[in-house]
Parts: sequence; structure tokens; C-alpha cells
Amino acid sequence: MNLDVMRMHVLLVLIALVLTNCTTLPGHVDGYEERCIKMNLEEVPPTPHDPHDGYKNIYACNVELQALLDGSAIPYPEGTMIVKESFREGEDFPWLLATAEKKSGSWEWKEYKRNFANEDFVKILASEQVCIDCHKAVKDSGDWMFTFYESE
Ligand code: HEC
Repeated sequence: MNLDVMRMHVLLVLIALVLTNCTTLPGHVDGYEERCIKMNLEEVPPTPHDPHDGYKNIYACNVELQALLDGSAIPYPEGTMIVKESFREGEDFPWLLATAEKKSGSWEWKEYKRNFANEDFVKILASEQVCIDCHKAVKDSGDWMFTFYESE
């Protein structure tokens, strides 16, 4: 193999690695709509200066329904994942997922986006500090989460 061909090989392998890393939603997030508990009764409508534009639903994963009902879920246990999906006006698929996962006692913040229904979500390289700065407003009341479980 000459040097150019080898370089090309290395490049293709790197591109493949980057693509597999970025484009697919992690397995533990995928399927949240079936696996997790929907917290809101009505879609949360867009607000001015909305950090996550659109109509939103919030799901709690790896938490017992009973604990959400009686409030004992807060502060949320280790391994909890809260997922927010957002639908843009006129679209019937979520374009954005924002997640908060409780690991070693603190939240890990992530965001994924896509533009088309048949497209994979791509993780956004957003700074967690942005999420934290805003969510700290409900640090004590909701364990950093704005949404509380709503029962019918
Ligand atoms: C300027 C304030 C602001 C910023 C910045 C922000 N959020 Fe939020 N987030 C909210 C509000 C308000 C809600 C409540 C639902 C709504 O109105 O969309 C929310 C809801 C959520 C929820 C559902 C649980 C809850 O708190 O209701 C998750 C998960 C979430 N955000 C993750 C993130 C992540 C990840 C980031 C950073 C990439 C982020 N947020 C940045 C204000 C913010």
C-alpha cells in the first residue's frame, strides 16, 4: 500500500468512528416514549426566548410512578433520566431531545437534534454550564427540574 492509500484508509476509519459516535441516539435514551412516564398532561407551549423551541413533552425514566405521585421521587434517585422532546410548529416528529441523567449524585445534561423524521439525532456540543445556569433556579424546589408530575 502506498502512503496516500494508507492515509485515505486512516481517514475513512476516522470518519466512520466519528459518524457512529455522533449520529445515533444512545440505546438508553432511544424508546423513551414507551419506556418512561410522561410527566405533563398538556404539551408545554413555546415561550419567548425558549431555549428549546417548540411544543414539549417531558418523560421520567427509571423512576417509579408511585414515587412521582407521592412526591418521594424528588430528589430523584441515582440513574434517573428526564427526557424532554420538542416538536416544531406543524411537524409531527420531535426535532429536539434534551436529557438530564443523574450520575454519581449530579445531573449530566445533553441535547440531540435532527431536521427530518427519517434522520438520526445528532448530539449537540452544547456547554452543560448553559443548562445548569438556567435550571439552578429550581435546584431546591424540583431537584433542578422545572416540570413536576401531573396526574389526571
Ligand atoms: C434559559 C433557561 C433554560 C436553559 C438554558 C435550559 N433549559 Fe431546560 N428547561 C427550561 C424550562 C423553563 C423547562 C420547563 C419546560 C419548558 O418550558 O420547556 C426546561 C425543561 C427541561 C427538561 C425537562 C425537565 C424540566 O426541567 O422540566 C430537561 C431534561 C431539560 N430542560 C434539559 C436541558 C438541557 C440539557 C439544557 C442545556 C443544553 C437546558 N435544559 C437548558 C429552561 C432552560
